[in-house]
Amino acid sequence: MLDPLHVDDADAMVRVLHDAALYEYTGGEPPSVAQLRRRYTAQVVGQSPDGAERWLNWVIRLQPSGAPVGYVQATVEEEDGARTAEAAWVIGVAHQGQGCAVEAAAAMIEWLAAQHVRTVIAHVHPQHEASMRVAARLGLSRTDRSEDGEVRWERML
Ligand SMILES: CC(C)(COP(=O)(O)OP(=O)(O)OC[C@H]1O[C@@H](n2cnc3c(N)ncnc32)[C@H](O)[C@@H]1OP(=O)(O)O)[C@@H](O)C(=O)NCCC(=O)NCCS
Repeated sequence: MLDPLHVDDADAMVRVLHDAALYEYTGGEPPSVAQLRRRYTAQVVGQSPDGAERWLNWVIRLQPSGAPVGYVQATVEEEDGARTAEAAWVIGVAHQGQGCAVEAAAAMIEWLAAQHVRTVIAHVHPQHEASMRVAARLGLSRTDRSEDGEVRWERML
C-alpha cells in the first residue's frame, strides 16, 4: 500500500533506512532521525521553490500490518505541456526480494499516468542488477544516455 509521506514517518523510516547496503550504488549513508525529519519537512512541501518541479513521496506499507518497508518517489516536471516524472525506489534490506519495489512503483506509475505524466525516467547505476530488474519489470527501457555515471531508463506512458 502507498501512503503519502508525512514528517512523522521519520521515526519509523529511520529503522527501514539504517542499512549501509542500501547506499552501495546511490551514495549517501543511513540518516539519523533528525536528518530524516529535516528531509521529510522539505519533501512534504511538494514542490520546488520556483514551482517548476513537483515532489511526490510515498511510504510503502505492508498489508495488513501497515508496517513501513520503503518508499517510492517521483519528481515531475512539465515542458511544453508534456509531463515527465523521474522515479526512484528504495526497500529496506529485510523486505527485499519479495516484489515490494515492483508492486509499489507500478502503483505509482499508474497514479502518475492518471495525472497526465507522459514519460517516466529513472537513473540507475549500470551494475545495480536489482534496480535494473525493477526498471525493466516496470516497462522502462535502457537508453544510451548517462548522467553522473548512472544510465537513463525511460518509458512512454
Ligand atoms: C532496488 C531495490 C528497490 C529492489 O527492491 P526489491 O523489493 O528487492 O525488488 P523486487 O523484489 O520488486 O524485485 C524486482 C526484481 O529485482 C530482482 N532482484 C532483487 N534483488 C536482486 C539482486 N540483489 N540481484 C539481482 N536481481 C535482484 C528480483 O528477482 C526481481 O526480478 P524478477 O522479477 O525478474 O525476478 C532494492 O534493492 C533497494 O532498495 N536497493 C537500495 C536502494 C536503491 O539503490 N534504489 C534504487 C535507486 S533508483
